Amino acid sequence: SQPKITVVGSINMDLVTESNKRPEAGETILGDRFSMIPGGKGANQAVSAARLGGAVTMIGCVGDDVFGRELIENLKKEGIDTSKVKTLADRETGIAAITLAEGDNSIIVVPGANAALTEASITEYEEAIAQSDAVLLQLEIPLSTVVKAAEMAHHHKVKVILNPAPIQKLPDELIHYADVITPNEHEYEQLMKDYEGDPEDLKQKLVITKGGEGTVFFEDGKDIHVPGYKVNVVDTTGAGDSFNGALAVRLAKGESLKASCRYANAVGALAVTKLGAQAGMPTDKEVAKMLYQE
Ligand code: RIB
Ligand code: NA
Repeated sequence: SQPKITVVGSINMDLVTESNKRPEAGETILGDRFSMIPGGKGANQAVSAARLGGAVTMIGCVGDDVFGRELIENLKKEGIDTSKVKTLADRETGIAAITLAEGDNSIIVVPGANAALTEASITEYEEAIAQSDAVLLQLEIPLSTVVKAAEMAHHHKVKVILNPAPIQKLPDELIHYADVITPNEHEYEQLMKDYEGDPEDLKQKLVITKGGEGTVFFEDGKDIHVPGYKVNVVDTTGAGDSFNGALAVRLAKGESLKASCRYANAVGALAVTKLGAQAGMPTDKEVAKMLYQE
């Protein structure tokens, strides 16, 4: 049966410019290309999980505008349940201004309606959370809402997967409620620096993503390294999101952490071969093919 995944998180329109360099302060340059592409860490993770066979419900907010309507349509097209995505009259849909230049991205996120996803909405959707196999969380919505969702899922014995991005100091209770926390290397350093408890308690929940190098987690005091894949990188935007969606689906199916990471590494590798966060996110069939060829 399909694992039930509920994503509580952000929905953005990504406004992507490609240019050969980043402008200096006060400088104007000509770029090569502009694209509007559905994004937002929450929505991206929802799309990843849906393409990989998850039955996905999205909880989030958009504004009552062109972007909001388009983003809901996009999620529906992926087979995601959008009945718990609210359209707010007094907010703009979240956007991410993304610069692709010099081989890397830089991103400014303006949360808009995402900032209005409140704890009250979580309480309202308790049933959906309680009936899930896994709840997937990121940090582009208010932290108090993330904590509430994690607490509720934990209370109903639903697996909580937290992608701590963009990184901020996590309250102890959030770490307590999370079953798996998935920082990248930079977020990992920050997490360890901010954490005031016993570092071993935190480390046992971590899955650290290292791009093409793969992932690392800790088991019985040992580092377990799950190797990644070398691919032709076009755009790393959303790579972490594709990984998290995949991890949620596999863990919700009851697969081991190691097998889930191997699968999710392949998903991340396929996703970075195309422009845009959601473009290139593979189906289960495409991942199976890649793993089979190893
Ligand atoms: O993780 C990638 C996402 O971060 C982008 O789609 C953008 O919307 C930002 O939120
Ligand atoms: Na991509």
